[in-house]
Amino acid sequence: MDACDLKKEVAKIKWWHTIDLGNGVITPGVDNSPKKLKTLMMPENLEDMTILDIGAWDGFFSFEAERRGAKRVLATDWFCWGGDGCGTKAGFDLAQKILNSKVECKEIDVLEISPQKIGTFDLVLFLGVLYHMRHPLLALEKVSSVTANQLILETHVSMNFIKQPVMRFYPGSENNNDPSNWWGPNVAAVQAMLRDVGFKRVEIVSRWRFIYRLGRAVYCKTYRRKSERRPFSEIIHEDRVVFHAFK
Ligand SMILES: C[S@@+](CC[C@H](N)C(=O)[O-])C[C@H]1O[C@@H](n2cnc3c(N)ncnc32)[C@H](O)[C@@H]1O
Repeated sequence: MDACDLKKEVAKIKWWHTIDLGNGVITPGVDNSPKKLKTLMMPENLEDMTILDIGAWDGFFSFEAERRGAKRVLATDWFCWGGDGCGTKAGFDLAQKILNSKVECKEIDVLEISPQKIGTFDLVLFLGVLYHMRHPLLALEKVSSVTANQLILETHVSMNFIKQPVMRFYPGSENNNDPSNWWGPNVAAVQAMLRDVGFKRVEIVSRWRFIYRLGRAVYCKTYRRKSERRPFSEIIHEDRVVFHAFK
């Protein structure tokens, strides 16, 4: 496909990820995927490793794992790929074709995942999905069951002024006007849940800087629609954190 035809195909899709498809064509995703990639501290060399990307959507991180030499990558999703979310699988399919990728894919709900259904993987990516789970501890149990060695978990967290493990519940569309956002656990809760489901070592590898959280809290307080505004004192304690957890 030449660059002109590719641009037309790309324009038909609502993209989440920003994927470089070559020939100067970059998908116009709302997510700054290359920037997020840097925060994950994913090993540069994935040779001989098997990788599972849960909630892969357009597949940026699956394709990146393949690029880093993984011998097998399985991308899974359900909400968006099944048509109930705000996206589709069209982006993944087009990127897979254009990148000539051998990444495998399977439409499966997190809660349906098990070693019997998909096997186990050296490295599992669970990025931006935990807070979409109605049953987060159960979801982490499923994620742990297919993790042979390491999990990289990226998630929204909240309530970090409390030291005990707690979770903030977001009924309706309270968080970000998105009814699929259910929970904001604090860091202590994520760490405790990961240990509870079988990870022996849990590390924080990156999180937002204070100055960014401050700017975001001022912005949300000032510019969000009144119905979506939450107290500054709550928003300032929200964060995006990347955890590495090991069996
Ligand atoms: C915010 S996006 C994150 C996409 C990608 N992992 C990233 O970090 O850029 C959340 C993804 O989780 C998926 N998802 C939500 N609920 C799910 C479920 N129950 N089972 C599988 N995937 C789910 C959505 O379809 C969507 O692709």
